[in-house]
Amino acid sequence: MKTKIKAIALALALALGFGVLGAAAGAADVKSLRPTEANQPDAPPAIFKVVEGAKHDRAYRQQPPMVPHSIDKYETDIKVNQCLRCHEWPFSDQEKAPKISDMHYIDRNGIRQDTVNGNRYFCKQCHVPQVDAKPLVDNKFQPATLNTNLR
Ligand code: HEC
Ligand code: HEC
Repeated sequence: MKTKIKAIALALALALGFGVLGAAAGAADVKSLRPTEANQPDAPPAIFKVVEGAKHDRAYRQQPPMVPHSIDKYETDIKVNQCLRCHEWPFSDQEKAPKISDMHYIDRNGIRQDTVNGNRYFCKQCHVPQVDAKPLVDNKFQPATLNTNLR
């Protein structure tokens, strides 16, 4: 009986010992995602400028068009939506900006409203500008409806 307990204790001690050793070896291999040490200030991220006036192709038929201008000065909240001051008719005519399509006035029951519907109010949900940045990961996206007969 006693020898059995001793054997178990020895096995446990060995397992613990190897565990600690293993953890120590592992810690040296772990690479942090942060490029700087934890006690050093982080390097500021690169600032990319929006490509003004760039025309972006749509990657698929239903894609909301990308915004060809910078948008950081245009406030959008429950009271103001500065995108609308250029893109809603009749301002769109005065500002020579493309008018938002009728789809933006249709509510979730398919009924046309007179003002932009709530489900299209936050433009940046769907329309975003682009910067000239290197893609973080490879992208092999193919649209589902590519009609090869027409090419
Ligand atoms: C000062 C007026 C003005 C404001 C404010 C404005 N835009 Fe524009 N926007 C334009 C003009 C003008 C164009 C057309 C520019 C061009 O084609 O080069 C345009 C183009 C676009 C397009 C491209 C449409 C297409 O068919 O390709 C989108 C999308 C767009 N804007 C979204 C927005 C969003 C979202 C906001 C708010 C964050 C906004 N705009 C605010 C004037 C404005
Ligand atoms: C839920 C997604 C969604 C939201 C939110 C949205 N849009 Fe769109 N928008 C689209 C799609 C999809 C298209 C392309 C199909 C179409 O023209 O209806 C489009 C088209 C456009 C166009 C081009 C219209 C044309 O005839 O060339 C403009 C400009 C535009 N949106 C502006 C806006 C503005 C401004 C807002 C905010 C008030 C907004 N959108 C909110 C999805 C959205």
